[in-house]
Amino acid sequence: MKNKFLPLSSLLVGSFALLSMITITSDQQDSWEVPAEYQNMKNPYAGVVDDEQIGQEIYGIYCQTCHGVKGKGDGINAKLIETSVADFTLASFKNQKDGSIYYKAATGRSDMPSFQTIIPDEEDLWMVINYIKSL
Ligand code: HEC
Repeated sequence: MKNKFLPLSSLLVGSFALLSMITITSDQQDSWEVPAEYQNMKNPYAGVVDDEQIGQEIYGIYCQTCHGVKGKGDGINAKLIETSVADFTLASFKNQKDGSIYYKAATGRSDMPSFQTIIPDEEDLWMVINYIKSL
């Protein structure tokens, strides 16, 4: 499928080096700053019904090992990493903007992997975002 956010993706690559420098020197569980352009980014798939359950399927493959079956941050690998894994069932998670969630999933930090190259299809990544918001 087409990459609809090409300019944003190239921006990500540019800011990645800087971001990784910042995360190395800061406390891993500090609040996670999201650039304004991502906070204001609209979810192009908001309210779209995922008939094929793409989001759930990708979640099962790439996210569940850390974030857990129900998204509570208690996956089988969660205890193997130092950073506490985010709990997607908390209101504090759900209340943030979709663009912020997208940014975090795409770029990652510390023990949270960057998924922009692992899940290069924007629609697929948005389907996962919609899925984790439903947990
Ligand atoms: C290797 C373990 C691991 C895997 C696999 C993983 N995550 Fe994470 N994730 C984390 C950790 C640890 C954090 C907390 C990072 C921090 O606060 O520094 C996190 C945080 C997040 C956040 C930010 C949550 C918040 O409170 O704002 C999002 C969004 C997220 N993960 C999405 C995903 C998605 C989507 C996938 C699968 C495509 C995934 N993660 C796979 C470990 C993982």
